Amino acid sequence: MTASPSPALARHDLIARFSEILGPAGVLTDATDIAPFCTDWRSLYHGRALAVLRPASTDELAAIVRLCVAHDVPMVPQGGNTSMVGGATPDDTGREVVICLSRMNRIRGIDPRDLTMEIEAGVTLKAAQDAAWEAGFMLPLSISSEGSAQIGGVLATNAGGNNTLRYGNARELTLGLEAVMPDGSVFNGLRRLRKDNTGYALRQLLVGSEGTLGFITTAILQLHPQPREIDAALCAVEDASAALDLLGLLRSRDPSLLQAFEFMSGTGMELVTDLIPGAGLPLEETAPAYVLLELATPRPDADLREFTESVLGEALEEGIITDAVIAESESQRAGLWKLREEHAEAQRRAGASVKNDVSVPVTHVPELITRATSACEALIPGIRPAPFGHMGDGNIHFNLVQPEGMAPEAFLARSHDIMDTVSAIVKELDGSFSAEHGVGQLKPYMMPSWRGGAELAAMRHIKTALDPRNLMNPGKVLPPATQGA
Ligand code: MLT
Ligand code: ZN
Repeated sequence: MTASPSPALARHDLIARFSEILGPAGVLTDATDIAPFCTDWRSLYHGRALAVLRPASTDELAAIVRLCVAHDVPMVPQGGNTSMVGGATPDDTGREVVICLSRMNRIRGIDPRDLTMEIEAGVTLKAAQDAAWEAGFMLPLSISSEGSAQIGGVLATNAGGNNTLRYGNARELTLGLEAVMPDGSVFNGLRRLRKDNTGYALRQLLVGSEGTLGFITTAILQLHPQPREIDAALCAVEDASAALDLLGLLRSRDPSLLQAFEFMSGTGMELVTDLIPGAGLPLEETAPAYVLLELATPRPDADLREFTESVLGEALEEGIITDAVIAESESQRAGLWKLREEHAEAQRRAGASVKNDVSVPVTHVPELITRATSACEALIPGIRPAPFGHMGDGNIHFNLVQPEGMAPEAFLARSHDIMDTVSAIVKELDGSFSAEHGVGQLKPYMMPSWRGGAELAAMRHIKTALDPRNLMNPGKVLPPATQGA
């Protein structure tokens, strides 16, 4: 049975209690200080918050969670605030507190024999990658927002990104977790075991729960050996079908080498080269589409360059690709990745855009792109489809940029029409409406038609059992009970 809440405290009394636990540095109440925490990266949501709380330890976090539960204060976890689906933005009631773990930012250690890293939630993904690399290993998770995204959010959303096809999503790399549960108790699952079948896999439930089942505070992540050689190449292709042929060719020649296979449309690439300073296309001509691929090996004796040149030569001869450039240095490799990583930013600068972070079986990617392009062009004349993303694992960001000259608000008012049009095709192709960005507050309305019946019912039971008063990131992931079972 759940204890009933203590009588509501006046705002200033609550703030005083938070300050007693966290000290003045841990509590932000000034409107200007709070503002950045109340808007998402895409500027789709503008909320309000009672306060922003910044605990510096698990004990402090547990104490404020218990205080929130006692006084019925809803809590919104936030890391680097890079959600694409409003998953970390408070609502507009002003009742919620944003709890940001950026002060819990220690890399506690790297174990070179177990190939693991123990790391707190507030460390940015980039800092985690760098620390792993300096220690002689690789943390293979890589996403466009890695400079800001923090480990807590990366795990809470089960982030995927560029290397999923070889190393898996965040979930596959998470061996252990510590978390503060919705009642303020601490789940200490900081285990570093590859095998551990001891009941329900709570850590796997927390990974991907988008902050609705607790706060991830610390994790033990699996590291990988550093590659000795990496080849990155940008290839020009006619369309996604040719890109799929290229993927098939690479895999038939050596399935173990591929670590990234990213598709980009000509439209998306043009936005990047036009709108991002320093982003230039290193090919002689523009193309209808491009693939950025990366091959890597930890073996000391492999002649990777010979392989890359021979397989791309074969692809050119067979007409699968029309041109290619292989990076000759680390800075050229970074230049190729810049063309890919700046897609989201370029689209933001181009005006309003609607994102469809979808996945389908890899073999269906060309059909998805062809059909969704025609359907969206028929829906809104002048719309600019700019699909790109992690084709090697079937995850395409089927993003659409507003027609030139259309008011952004008018375009965004059609968001649901566009998302529904794309997702109907994705459903026919056995895909998912949210591959890696999560559900957040943008997509709970899609849950009944995609995950209804026993699946959504089980999710609701789990949520109610762990968070009976719905105080953990309310309004995210699950639709209101009135919206379908
Ligand atoms: C990316 O892979 O760059 C992001 O997930 C993309 C997006 O803007 O949809
Ligand atoms: Zn992505």
